[in-house]
Amino acid sequence: MSEGSLAAPWWQRGVIYQIYPRSFADSNGDGIGDLAGIEAHLDHVANLGVDAIWLSPIFPSPMADFGYDVADYTGVEAMFGDLAAFDRLLAAVHVRGLRLLLDFVPNHSSTQHPWFVESRSSRDSPKRDWYIWRDPAPDGGPPNNWISDMGGPAWELDPATGQYYLHTFLKEQADLNWRNPDVAQAMTDVMRFWLDRGVDGFRIDVLWHIVKAQGLPDNPANPDWREGMAEKLRVLQHHSTDQPEAHAFTRGMRQLADSYGETLLVGEIFLPRDRLMRWYGSEAEPGVHLPFNFELIENSWNRDTLARLIADYDAAIPDHGWPNWVIGSHDAPRIAARVGEAQARVAAMLLLTLRGTPTLYQGDELGIGTVDIPPDRIRDPQDLRQPGMGLGRDRSRTPMAWDASPNAGFSTAVPWLPLHPDWPMRNVAVQEQDPHSMLALYRRLLAARRAHPALSLGRMTLHDTPGDVLAYERVHAGQRLFVALNFGPDAQDITPPARPGRIIAATGTRTAFDGRIDGDEGFIVELEP
Ligand code: GLC
Ligand code: CA
Repeated sequence: MSEGSLAAPWWQRGVIYQIYPRSFADSNGDGIGDLAGIEAHLDHVANLGVDAIWLSPIFPSPMADFGYDVADYTGVEAMFGDLAAFDRLLAAVHVRGLRLLLDFVPNHSSTQHPWFVESRSSRDSPKRDWYIWRDPAPDGGPPNNWISDMGGPAWELDPATGQYYLHTFLKEQADLNWRNPDVAQAMTDVMRFWLDRGVDGFRIDVLWHIVKAQGLPDNPANPDWREGMAEKLRVLQHHSTDQPEAHAFTRGMRQLADSYGETLLVGEIFLPRDRLMRWYGSEAEPGVHLPFNFELIENSWNRDTLARLIADYDAAIPDHGWPNWVIGSHDAPRIAARVGEAQARVAAMLLLTLRGTPTLYQGDELGIGTVDIPPDRIRDPQDLRQPGMGLGRDRSRTPMAWDASPNAGFSTAVPWLPLHPDWPMRNVAVQEQDPHSMLALYRRLLAARRAHPALSLGRMTLHDTPGDVLAYERVHAGQRLFVALNFGPDAQDITPPARPGRIIAATGTRTAFDGRIDGDEGFIVELEP
């Protein structure tokens, strides 16, 4: 769990904040967030104390998957603004000393993208091979047994040309064929387009999907699949994901990024830890800077599980790699809904004190918890296609609450998704006035992190502690900090490894260390060197 250096690139010290543009702030009263809305609320982001914004897709899109179905990779969706609005936003981000990452969606485009329209037009189209077309199986059915991540077959028949095209997600999202060098080139040009405009990097959507096994063999059945589980789990995605050839493309993206200075590539990759680590590449041939680490989302919330996964994840990071941690997103359930308000405060401290770049998700800084979406307001296609299975993502995509004015100051119109029920109290304006609010806690933690490089760059040592308490030290350049987090409801005695000094941040009201930690409490205390 080694130490970083002060010469480290910004993203090793920095914190990433994810903005879901549809739900951040609406500037023109259509009930949907937009770029000007984000620009108008940038001070919230700057005052929070994060370093970079990752924007979920802002490109022209029919919105079948809310922007993850891109119809033009180098434009801006009219609902969100235009290129000029983007340039203004980017400048406003940079003026505040923040960075901006865009969402790059290389695995699939919208079926309304001109590339796909052309590809579909005939079997002889010069763009036919830009997507993955196959003849029907002998019985006329899909070419193989692959299942869409959104449920149902991953193939759609195009009656006009008599072939099926592959779609790992919705049938409105056709998979691009990265084995065709023209596709790889066109997508490199897309990255270059935005890098030339000044963006600071990309979050790369479903990166482990981009290359499929030659010949597209059937995926093996999943022996552990049971009725009631998501349909995609019926097969193991052995041949449809995580192919060795993908790393050459990732390396190419990395070379391009590196040629633009300290540009960050974060890969969205859901894989078991050992396979995830390969996406760091090697020192000589690096992959993405940060393959997203979702272990805090995927595992149960208790001390023993967390202690083990933190140690094992950290130990698995290759020498040239840098760790990272994610606790929420537009896809995952809200952390406060999962673990409750008190533990959500502990989670904030954990996320912002572990060794590795944290990514936090808009609204978690307010502690937005459970939101029940009435059936007639469900918008998430994944939920609509496999109803009642708890797969809905709308619950994490509800609008930000800015103040207690109508529609929470998010919009003058009814928002596209409902607000969380307690928004009149749980909003930015109210929490700004309350030193004990979740927002105040996030600001304190982010300020502490900025003031103490040990929290970002420091070496990390886990300590043996009783009960439900997880404790670790972060040490850097003579600075020694001790983080104690109680994942249970009972108070515990704890003994720090050296004489404790000042408390530099606490989830509650504690100002001095007295040998104990309360239930659901967390604090960071300075230790004598
Ligand atoms: C990623 C996105 C998710 C989207 C999917 C398909 O997992 O985060 O929202 O539905 O990719 O693009
Ligand atoms: Ca709008």
